[in-house]
Order: sequence, then structure tokens, then C-alpha cells
Amino acid sequence: MEQKKQKQKLKRKRRNKISHNTAYKTKLYLTKTTILKTPAVKILKENRLGINLAGLKLPNPTMLASGILGYTKETFKNIADGGAGAIVTKSVGLKPRSGYANPTVTQTSCGLINAMGLPNPGIEEFAKEISEAKRVLNVPLIVSVYGFAAEEYATVAKKAVTAGADAVELNVSCPHVKETGSEIGQKPEILKEVVKNVKSAVQKPVFVKLSPNVTSIAETAEAAVNAGADAITAINTVKAMAIDTETAKPILSNKMGGLSGPAIKPIALRCVYEIYEKVKVPIIGCGGITNWRDAAEFLLAGASAVQIGTAIATKGPNMFKAITRGIDAYLKRKGFRSVNEIVGLSHKS
Ligand code: SIN
Repeated sequence: MEQKKQKQKLKRKRRNKISHNTAYKTKLYLTKTTILKTPAVKILKENRLGINLAGLKLPNPTMLASGILGYTKETFKNIADGGAGAIVTKSVGLKPRSGYANPTVTQTSCGLINAMGLPNPGIEEFAKEISEAKRVLNVPLIVSVYGFAAEEYATVAKKAVTAGADAVELNVSCPHVKETGSEIGQKPEILKEVVKNVKSAVQKPVFVKLSPNVTSIAETAEAAVNAGADAITAINTVKAMAIDTETAKPILSNKMGGLSGPAIKPIALRCVYEIYEKVKVPIIGCGGITNWRDAAEFLLAGASAVQIGTAIATKGPNMFKAITRGIDAYLKRKGFRSVNEIVGLSHKS
């Protein structure tokens, strides 16, 4: 009798255990499915840092700025492996250009001054690099384009897109090459003509990189947007120079160059802030970003993404991962579910 009771007790225990396990699993399953249906958690399951930039999908808001390591598929791949959310190439034109004689770069106490003179292999040659790079890259490739006339910008942009570029960024801001760059970007009517020509030549997003060397960068941005720009990159380098006290001569062979690095960050930030108040397209902040806090400042000022240049040249591609991790931790700490939630937040206070 006692033995029978023991057997029944054991059976009950086993049945309870099974039903408890089943219930537990079912509960877990239900919890999982319910969680997945909850928008808030869905975002957590997705990437908090992923953005849609004028139609381009970026895994995070960091990008390689034009001019830094931007010529070969190997360096593009290296940069993408370092964690960049997108890559902008060095500016390319219609014909090959050797650029200025050395010295083309000089270090100052607060950043780099460069005047390379837009050296590039020309779009015909570079097109091969674009198509090969597209085969190995898993992030968008944006080709920086310059020209000496509106039609030239359009021809180069079209060839870049045909080769596989996901977007083009118009360099209307190089501060020292004659008849291109800022000599175009500083004249709103010519700027508009360039943007319109490129827009009608390509079916991909057109970004316009602006110079801070103007009276009102917000008005320049407005002109570009009215002509069809899909996004604004702000800013290119600030016109600058350095003099060697021993030789009493300018250091750079071109005398004038463009200052990049920490010294220009507050200028770039002010530009992004002003542009955000004037235009509705996404802004890509660029200028002196060296850590996650700098990047977060640009996002709060109104940038949807940030480009990093000088810090990559001096500290290497792993900077992208470090900055992305820092932004992610910041979002988490502040309770934001997506990086988009902080874009332009400093305007709301
Ligand atoms: C250069 O090639 O000299 C720099 C280009 C630029 O500043 O846009």
C-alpha cells in the first residue's frame, strides 16, 4: 500500500515537472513572440545605430570623409572592416591630375593643413576601382566628384554611378584649386547649375559638400537643396597656411591649404546647427571629430551622420568602431531607442 502511494507521488511529481517545463517553455515562447511584436523591443532587436541616409542604408552613422585613404579597393575594404558605415572616396575628375608638388601636408599644433591639388587617376581609370570595390564592400560607396564646369561634374558623376557608386558627393568646397571647389560653391548661381546638371544625369542620391569659407553656409545649403541636393555635407577644410620661420617661406608648395582636425570642430558644429535650421534634407557633419562625444555633438546639432577624416589618418580605421561603440553606449545610457531620436535635439531646448 505504502509502495503504491510512493509510486503515485513520484508519477505526480514527474507530471508536474513536465507540465512546469512545458509551461515554462510556452511562456518563454509567448514572451519571445510578444516581445518581437512590441515596437520598442523590436528596435532593440534591430540595430540602434542603423540609419537611412537619403535612401542609403548605413549600419551606423560614421563615414570615411573624402580625401583620406580613398583610392583603392583594398583601403576601402580596410576602412569598412574598421567599422565605417559608409565610405567617401577621394575626389575624382574627368581627367587624370598629378596635383601639387611636395610638401602637400603639414602638421600644426591643432590639426593638419593640406593642399594636394586634387590628384587623381581620372574617372575612366577610377571606374574600374569603383566596380571592384563594390564587389567586396558591404557598406555604401560614395564617390566624391569635382569638375571645372557643370557639365563636367555631371559627366564624372554619371560615369561613377555607372561603375557602381551608391551616391555621389559634389566637391564644391576645395579651398585652393582654381576654377573648381569653393570657387563654385561660393557662387550660388553656379552651384545651382552644377547640382541641377548632376541631378539630371544620375538616378542616385547627390550629396553636396560645402565650404565654411562663405558669408552664410545656411544660405549656400539652401541654394544646393533648391537645386535638388539630397543631402548636405558640412564642412570641407578651412582655408589656412603655415610659414617656416627658418626659411621665412610658406611651408606648402601651394602656399595656401585647408585646415582639418580638432581646431575646426566648433566651426563645423556651428555650420551644421545653422544649416539644420534652414533645410530639410539630411546633413552629414564633418570637421575635427576625434571621439564619440564629438560625433554625438554633431548629431545633436542636426547631423544625421558624421564623416571622419583626420582622426582616421592619424589614429587608424579602428576609430570607427570606437566612436560607434561610444555613441551606442550614450544612446543606451540616455534611454534612446534609435540614433535618429537625437538628431537635432539641441534645437528643441
Ligand atoms: C586636395 O586634394 O588638395 C584637397 C581636396 C579638398 O580639399 O577638397
